[in-house]
Amino acid sequence: MKSILENRPALAAEIDKVAEVAGYLWQKGWAERNGGNISVNVTEHVDDEIRRMPAISERFPIGTVLPALKGCYFFCKGTNRRMRDLARRPMENGSVIRIADDCASYEIIADAAVKPTSELAAHLSMHAKMIADGKGYKAAVHTHPIDLVAMTHNPEFLKKDVLTELLWSMIPETRAFCPKGLGIVPYKMPSSVELAEATIAALEEYDVVMWEKHGVCAVGPDIFEAFDQVDVLSKAAQIYLTARSMGFRPSGTTREQMDELQRAFDL
Ligand code: 13P
Ligand code: ZN
Repeated sequence: MKSILENRPALAAEIDKVAEVAGYLWQKGWAERNGGNISVNVTEHVDDEIRRMPAISERFPIGTVLPALKGCYFFCKGTNRRMRDLARRPMENGSVIRIADDCASYEIIADAAVKPTSELAAHLSMHAKMIADGKGYKAAVHTHPIDLVAMTHNPEFLKKDVLTELLWSMIPETRAFCPKGLGIVPYKMPSSVELAEATIAALEEYDVVMWEKHGVCAVGPDIFEAFDQVDVLSKAAQIYLTARSMGFRPSGTTREQMDELQRAFDL
């Protein structure tokens, strides 16, 4: 069977990036079993032939209505599919979907009829928000980093910006490369529309949000940049946890040091 990636090097390059990041998520230990999901808006790579491609699935409801997504196409990890398998065989463990004209449903068009992630409502809501923001963001990742999820089990860290300030103070890079910090979404049922809505509300202020006792979501211009933000925050969390396991509370950089960094790098 002919793949949608054949003779489409730009689209293939986007899928290669997804596969590369899926491998990192597995190597990091953030992607047990089918844990986590990735989606990329690939509409800019869609030509007339793709637009004419018939659906290979029935039409499924998104669960919410997203007018900003009219005419859009996405590559998504399949539900119940493993990140480590997405890394090796992306087109067998993910699929390209087309949003229907009602902006409330979608159909799968390529390569195989792999049903997209159960967190599709959250992913597509994030994409609708990214389009509305007009910053050219195209990628979203949800993953289960051990250190960051563990921290959300402490109610103190769920208070607004407590975790952000703590993580920024662990290593200057966190402030520099995750300048908006980390939003908190109180626990909601996985895969629910309520979780999707709370996520986009938090994205008003942040590029990375924690789902309490579940995982993290990040958005970015491409999947590498979305991954990098989570990686930087997880590194800071590890520094904190390592210091605690050595028996002391890390002193952290001072507010003056952080402000100096903010001024120097125009953050
Ligand atoms: P999916 O396998 O449906 O993508 O679900 C994984 C997950 O992390 C749900 O939150
Ligand atoms: Zn999850």
